[in-house]
Amino acid sequence: MKNQFAKDIEEGLNKNPKSLSSKYFYDEVGSSLFSEIMKLPEYYLTNSEFEIFQKQSLEIIKALNLKKVETFELIELGAGDGYKTIELLKVLEAESFSYKYIPIDISQKALDQINHNIKEQLPHLEIAHRKGDYFNILKKLNESSYPKVILFLGSNIGNMNDTIASSFLMNLSNNLSKGDKLILGADLMKSKEIVLPAYNDKQGVTRAFNLNLLNRINREFDADFDLEKFEHAPEYDEVDGVAKSSIQSNVDQTVHLKKLDLKVEFESGESIHTEISRKYNDEIINKISFHSGLKIMDKFLDSKNYFADYILEKQS
Ligand code: AVJ
Repeated sequence: MKNQFAKDIEEGLNKNPKSLSSKYFYDEVGSSLFSEIMKLPEYYLTNSEFEIFQKQSLEIIKALNLKKVETFELIELGAGDGYKTIELLKVLEAESFSYKYIPIDISQKALDQINHNIKEQLPHLEIAHRKGDYFNILKKLNESSYPKVILFLGSNIGNMNDTIASSFLMNLSNNLSKGDKLILGADLMKSKEIVLPAYNDKQGVTRAFNLNLLNRINREFDADFDLEKFEHAPEYDEVDGVAKSSIQSNVDQTVHLKKLDLKVEFESGESIHTEISRKYNDEIINKISFHSGLKIMDKFLDSKNYFADYILEKQS
């Protein structure tokens, strides 16, 4: 029996142009490379959003319009290491709000990491992590009557095209009740001189992150991608505001994926599209949230205006 990854590889590599989904970046090696990316000087996204939470958590909490006497659930989708969120949690604790923190992630390693970081920094906080699919878990959580604040940070939404992002927000909204909030982290449109280096760093960590997808396929499907014969190829279109990453073949070559009994031919210069990282402005956030029943209530920017955290509220 073939797993979803196998099916997606067959489909993606038989298509023209070829593509592989960015969701497959995150095996163990890929996840640790992404942690390295977040520390790169060129990868301004993490620092910008961290600054927003470090300096403006109190204002963000005010904008959420929460009652101190009523317990609420703070649910984080794809929590990672929780590094930015902890800034918000510290202020919620200092202000004596009553809440449960519920990070959701598909990776047990990420959940262990966040549990560890929180035990260290906020030993009294009640944390009830859930492992698995966002929407299955949200559906269960919506059976409780607690008001909810959802966190979807890091511009993770940027890996979706606008159509998929719209249905994602609609699906999210369908699992919420009137008055529930969403804090949505979104990297903003800006010049190529700033965006492109974030996806093409000097040390080559992003290159390794992108090409690791081929290594992963080599490991899991007994394939013979020669990483010397492929190159990391990032681009950014300032007008569309979309960064795209591809893996480009340097030569004419045939790759054999033995476990899938599949041979894939590449022409010199041909690429496999691997990721989009959409950049936003108010108009695009309005557009993707328009049919979801989530309305923009507020917006917080970092001091360089690189990144925004939008507060949206479920209307009815
Ligand atoms: C985790 C999706 C926000 O698109 O900026 C970083 C992933 N890819 N460098 C992004 C990523 C290459 C990242 N997100």
